[in-house]
Amino acid sequence: MKETTAIAHPNFALVKYWGKKESNQNRPAMSSISITVDSMESKTTINENTASKKHRLFINGKEESDLSRILPSIDYLSKISKSNDYLLIQSDNNFPTSSGLASSASGVASFVTAFEAHYDMDLNLSDRIEACILGSGSAPRSLIGGFVFMDHNNGYKCNQILKKSDWPLDILICITSIKPKKISSRVGMEISRETSPIYQQWLDINNQHINSALKSIREKNIVDLSKVTEENCELMHKVMESSIPSIQYRNGLTQECIIEIMNLRASGHRLFYTIDAGPQVKIICDPKSSEVIKKRIMEETDINEIIHTRVGESPRVVYEN
Ligand code: DP6
Repeated sequence: MKETTAIAHPNFALVKYWGKKESNQNRPAMSSISITVDSMESKTTINENTASKKHRLFINGKEESDLSRILPSIDYLSKISKSNDYLLIQSDNNFPTSSGLASSASGVASFVTAFEAHYDMDLNLSDRIEACILGSGSAPRSLIGGFVFMDHNNGYKCNQILKKSDWPLDILICITSIKPKKISSRVGMEISRETSPIYQQWLDINNQHINSALKSIREKNIVDLSKVTEENCELMHKVMESSIPSIQYRNGLTQECIIEIMNLRASGHRLFYTIDAGPQVKIICDPKSSEVIKKRIMEETDINEIIHTRVGESPRVVYEN
C-alpha cells in the first residue's frame, strides 16, 4: 500500500503572532516574522486507513483522540485532491512536544507536505499556506526555509527574507522544562484577545515591529534585530500576563537565563533571545560565540540541556512508495 513520509522543521518567531481574527478559520490577527531551524524535525507518514472508516492520528506513537486541529486541513486537501480516503497519520518529533518549541507548526507543515506528495498534487503556495493555517496559525512559516515574513495584509503570503546561507546564525534552545504546557497557545491567545487591557497596543505596534525587523534582517544588523525581537517578545508576554486570568509561560529558570544573556551581551557577545508560549529560551547568536554562550549558561544557571541548531530549510519528502 502507498505510504509517504515528509519532514518539516519548527520555526521560531522574532515578531510574533498572538491573537486571531474574529473568525473560526484560525486566522492570525497580525503579521509575523520567523526563523525556520534545522536538526529539530517533525516526520509525518501517511497511509490510507483501510481498516476503519475514520482518520487516525498518532503523535510520537500515541493515538490522539481529538482530531479537531488537523481535520480542517485534511478536509481542505481532500477536497482539492478529490479523495475520500480515511488516513492513518503518524507524526514523530525529535524534540519535546507541546512545550513551546513549535511542534504544531512543524507537525502540520510536514503533514501538508506528505499529503501533497501522497496524492501527486501540485499545489500552489497559497493552497499550501491555507492548508497549514487551518491546522496552526504559525505552520505556514515552516513551509519556507531561512528568515520568513508572513503578511496578514496580503492573504498570509509567506516570503523568504533571507535564506540560510545569507545569514547563517546559530540558535541555542535552553530547555528549562519539558513538561507540556498547561494552557495551549490557542486557548491562551483567545483569553488575551478578550481580556488583556494592552491587546490593542499589541495589535497597533505590529506594523512598526515588522518593518523594523524586515530592515534589520535585510541589513543583517544583529544589534537592531536584537532590540526589536526582545521588545516584541517582552510585549507579548506582558499581553499574556495582563490577561484575566493571567497567563504565565515563563518560569524561574527562564529569568535566570535572560540575566545571563544580558551579562554575555555586556561582555561583547552578539546574541539575543526570544520566548514563545512555553518556558524555553531561544538564543539567536553569532556562531563565533555559541560555544562560550553554552558553557556560560550551563555554568551560571540550573539549565542542563541546550539544543544547538541553525537556520534551516523548507520541508522535504523523504519516502514515497
Ligand atoms: C507564541 O501557531 O501554536 O509561538 O494557531 O492555535 O496553532 P495555533 O497557535 P500557534 O501559536 C503560535 C504562538 C507563538 C508565536 C508565534 O509563533 O508567532
